Amino acid sequence: MNNNTFPQHDMDGLLQGQQRGQYVARMFGRIAARYDLLNRFMSLGQDQRWRRRMAALAEVPAQGLVLDLATGTGDVALAVLERSPDAQVVGADFALPMMQVGQRKQMGEQGLSFVGADALALPFHNMQFDALLHAFLMRNIADIASGFREQWRVLKPGGRVVCLEIVGPEASLIRSVYHLFFETIVPRVGALISGDAQAYSYLPQSVLRFPAPDTLSQMMREAGFAQVRYERVMLGTIAIHVGEKPRAS
Ligand SMILES: C[S@@+](CC[C@H](N)C(=O)[O-])C[C@H]1O[C@@H](n2cnc3c(N)ncnc32)[C@H](O)[C@@H]1O
Repeated sequence: MNNNTFPQHDMDGLLQGQQRGQYVARMFGRIAARYDLLNRFMSLGQDQRWRRRMAALAEVPAQGLVLDLATGTGDVALAVLERSPDAQVVGADFALPMMQVGQRKQMGEQGLSFVGADALALPFHNMQFDALLHAFLMRNIADIASGFREQWRVLKPGGRVVCLEIVGPEASLIRSVYHLFFETIVPRVGALISGDAQAYSYLPQSVLRFPAPDTLSQMMREAGFAQVRYERVMLGTIAIHVGEKPRAS
């Protein structure tokens, strides 16, 4: 069966593991060319600011080796390099067309390389990276707990993980606008601009089922991260979590 033909309601109920991964990789592959444009629209032009905040929170050491996991078109990686020009950044993703867009934006940037990788089985050694960041990854992966454990594995002791995701806002008025935006506006405008109606009805489904920030913090702690905390931006609809791999482990 072609995974692209799964009915939308099956995404959360049925597609797990490898099947879910294949579905997500193909979906991002299809929308790669319009992805950045849609990001700017859906974030009301704020998304690059959030990535710069992630880069600050990562506290990359001098000449650090950094993993931008689910790099997509490379915007988090580029934000890290803007802040830490002497870093070496690996952008990893399983949707190759997304990274091809990133390579075109790279403009001769020497500190960035792209690698094909699945976030649930990273092709990296234990304790390889000084810092690890990911934006808009965790709501896409089939097993959040395994994803965090894998990130913990490849991070050096003392290194930070920085995780950005769309979350439900706290205030009820904003919650109503948020539901209207994700359930009505995003699918329509996304379909119009990307030409892919399925991808932009998957997006609100994946957002609405994602764990609340406190639950996500707990999952990070269970994976072994310490000093876990988060901040909300964009009227509370975006959470940026930070955790550290303890030096003693
Ligand atoms: C919404 S995009 C985010 C891209 C980028 N981080 C950004 O800030 O724009 C999500 C990305 O996660 C990637 N992704 C989702 N699940 C993944 C997995 N299991 N392994 C690797 N990449 C994954 C997708 O291919 C896609 O490029």
